[in-house]
Amino acid sequence: MGKTVKIAVLVSGGGTNLQALIDAQARGELHSGKIELVISNKDGAYALERAKKAGIETLTILKKKSNEGAQGTGGVQEISPQADFENRLLAALEEHGIELIILAGFMSILSGNFTRRYPERIINVHPALIPSFCGKGFYGLKVHEAALACGVKVTGATVHFVNEIPDGGRIIAQKAVDIEEGDTPEILQKRVMEQAEWILLPKAAEKVCADMLK
Ligand code: GAR
Repeated sequence: MGKTVKIAVLVSGGGTNLQALIDAQARGELHSGKIELVISNKDGAYALERAKKAGIETLTILKKKSNEGAQGTGGVQEISPQADFENRLLAALEEHGIELIILAGFMSILSGNFTRRYPERIINVHPALIPSFCGKGFYGLKVHEAALACGVKVTGATVHFVNEIPDGGRIIAQKAVDIEEGDTPEILQKRVMEQAEWILLPKAAEKVCADMLK
């Protein structure tokens, strides 16, 4: 077997997008990269169970509250909880030699200090057609609530590179999904996942990995 890109997937919740990546890898559709590590920023995220079932190493890295840890001897805060979290994340990624980071339902914004370390080496799946319904505060069901409140007739999903602007990096792939009469945020979320996210993310991951090997 030739060289493959070492992938870490960052998760926070149910992990259906992680599952789509695992399944694509098992089918040989994601073959230019290999998922080496799954990291959750939430204790007990179901995504971790999916990873373990697939025999993938898992880690949980939690952000500390501002009054715990990361303090100097005088109790003075030395670094912010975000910087402390990103330092621990970075150490884990470096220890595993990770070359590509996939955010799959990762509900935390990474700072420019972190994203600048991995230029065009972090990708994210967002459940809307960027530049609609994206940026700070638009995540998970909130995205679909906003699309329904706005009355748009078409939404979808976007896979993009991650930079210091939330949902602002270069777009890799998009897929449109129709909104139907009577949709609730939950129904729409499921349709966007089934018709767009679970197809788009593994395909985009394969393309990025294949380009990295060129
Ligand atoms: C997915 O719809 C994903 O696009 C979205 O959260 C859901 C996670 O589901 N991500 C964001 O909103 C990020 N801004 P999953 O844990 O089952 O993959």
